[in-house]
Amino acid sequence: MKKIILFADPGIDDSVAIMYALLNPEIEVLAIVSSYGNVSKEQATDNIAYLLQLAGRTDIPIIGGTNAPSTGKIPTYYPEIHGEEGLGPIRPPENFSGELTNFSELYTIISNNPGLTIVDVGRNTSLASMFLLGENLTENVSEFYIMGGAFLVPGNVTPSAEANFYGDPTASQLVMKNLDNLYVAPLNVTNKAIITMEHVQTILEMTDDPLVQILDEVMEYYINAYKKLIPGIGGAPLHDAVTLSLMVNPAMGKVIRRDVDIFTAGSGMGTSIADFRASSKPAEKNINIYLELDYEAFVKDFIEVMSSSGEK
Ligand code: BDR
Ligand code: CA
Repeated sequence: MKKIILFADPGIDDSVAIMYALLNPEIEVLAIVSSYGNVSKEQATDNIAYLLQLAGRTDIPIIGGTNAPSTGKIPTYYPEIHGEEGLGPIRPPENFSGELTNFSELYTIISNNPGLTIVDVGRNTSLASMFLLGENLTENVSEFYIMGGAFLVPGNVTPSAEANFYGDPTASQLVMKNLDNLYVAPLNVTNKAIITMEHVQTILEMTDDPLVQILDEVMEYYINAYKKLIPGIGGAPLHDAVTLSLMVNPAMGKVIRRDVDIFTAGSGMGTSIADFRASSKPAEKNINIYLELDYEAFVKDFIEVMSSSGEK
């Protein structure tokens, strides 16, 4: 059982990752940190609160993360992928708003749960802030999992940069250089984690859980958005859910340990690089980079977890 704090910015694939984490018996969600990213922090907070309400898990605190990147730039949101409010056509009920717990609560949760795992599937600003603020705090964290980067493959927001690292490359570089036991799931593997409407229908035939029911409309929106971007894709990549799936099923992926650098400025801003030459020597700071994914195993795990609650 992995106890996790999940940093997210829902966003459709973040929302699916939250559902996956709540439904997976191998994962205990201690808190969710809400930040800007795919949508504003306020919107992300409402979406998280709505998902927790549907799941009957309003006991899980939502911690207020950052509103904007450390670069001082105004955040860019992605309504064409996630919808204006982050859940495609689904909206939390009128006058619904999520309650935030203060960022300092993170320290209490981490201190009380030594050995926990931190997962960040959004821009890395909040995680970097935690690292900058907390004395010896990260010693209590056994592993960090991050969705971000693209190694020697095209990016998704610029020719070479992936959205999470592009959103705040300064924070991402700080995280890469300072955290230990770091696992990174880049586009190399997350682009392969394609879920189709057929997969969604299979799940919906097996469960009447109200949380999972929203997958129908949410995934239809997300898949249609991807079909417009990439003709012939057939489904859409669940970047954030596959990061969690890799965390609980390590045999599903293969990692290469390398030092990672992120370009913090210029036309290559947000680009992640590592030395994959056969001659490259172990570096002082080695990060576990996922470069391979067992796709069939991911689909099986995803369907099993998402259909495990409710009845039918
Ligand atoms: C990542 O960027 C976000 O828009 C997605 O939620 C995912 O975390 C993919 O590049
Ligand atoms: Ca995300």
